[in-house]
Amino acid sequence: MAPLDYPEAISVTEVCTRDGFQNHKTFIPTEVKIEILDALAALGFAKMEVTSFVSPKAIPQMVDAAEVMSHFQKKWGDRIAGFALVPNRKGAELAIRNGAEALVFVLSASEEHNKANTNRTIEESLSELQDICRDFGGLEISVGLGTSFECPFSGTVAPEKVTRVIDAAFEYGVDHITISDTTGSANPRGLERTLEIVRSRYESAPFALHLHDTHGMGLANALTAMNMGFTTFETATAGMGGCPFAPGASGNLATEDLVNMAGRMGIDTGIDLIELLRVSREIAHKLALPWKSHVASTRIGLDEGVYC
Ligand code: COA
Ligand code: ZN
Repeated sequence: MAPLDYPEAISVTEVCTRDGFQNHKTFIPTEVKIEILDALAALGFAKMEVTSFVSPKAIPQMVDAAEVMSHFQKKWGDRIAGFALVPNRKGAELAIRNGAEALVFVLSASEEHNKANTNRTIEESLSELQDICRDFGGLEISVGLGTSFECPFSGTVAPEKVTRVIDAAFEYGVDHITISDTTGSANPRGLERTLEIVRSRYESAPFALHLHDTHGMGLANALTAMNMGFTTFETATAGMGGCPFAPGASGNLATEDLVNMAGRMGIDTGIDLIELLRVSREIAHKLALPWKSHVASTRIGLDEGVYC
């Protein structure tokens, strides 16, 4: 067996205020959202998912997306690429009106989840994506490709379904694509199988991995992807998150768990673990959640800046 190979550095995109908040059961007051956003932004992420412009009937939590996005752009827009998630053209227009300069268009590789999440067929979503790329080409546009490995309705997703969407998205001019394990049900071998096909087809194209930790395999999946040369990961501080339209989906891989593992392996993330843990603990406290990342359970002397 060949020895495992890891990158010297990875890039971590923080998605707590989008993916994390969308699955929170009670409404988080806008000022609390903004406090958390500011605390996370101060940690030094190069990219963050700020909020989503979606139907308030689908995700009531995001009804204040305009206020949150405008605040972010004013305060952090010159330093951090702040992405707004959108499922349709209306979302793109609203996001841009409120200052967004970077969009994540969400669609799924599985027909069943795309329908449940966006009330569209994949063809309909792709057509909307094509229009957005044509009309808002000056913006940075990413695709968040949900259920790339497993679908809660139809099981394992064939890699061809993933490459079909990737082909179309790059043809329309999308800048990068995030391959997403929406439900956190991917396992390292299944993930490797799909990523191998993606890598052999697109070689150095810009991809990120979006991982959840439902089955406790988030770090194993991240490690597998790193060993294959993927270096950009989307995670949520405090392990919040999940798609309300994917039964069984739970929290994202916690940012602190990835930053901790990378740090112990000598892989640079540019994020200070102690500062990150303080913010994570504060998020759990403000939202009255159990502080549940793996690394949180090992905290020792956090207030003294010591962590073992
Ligand atoms: N932002 C805000 N409001 C929106 C919107 C958007 N992007 N898109 C549609 N709406 C509004 C419409 O104006 C309409 O409002 P009205 O009833 O007051 O007239 C209502 O939402 C329904 O619009 P419609 O176009 O019929 O959408 P739909 O009911 O078929 O739902 C989506 C389609 C895509 C808007 C909806 O499924 C959605 O927002 N999905 C996102 C789900 C999500 O965020 N999942 C988690 C991320 S993985
Ligand atoms: Zn997610």
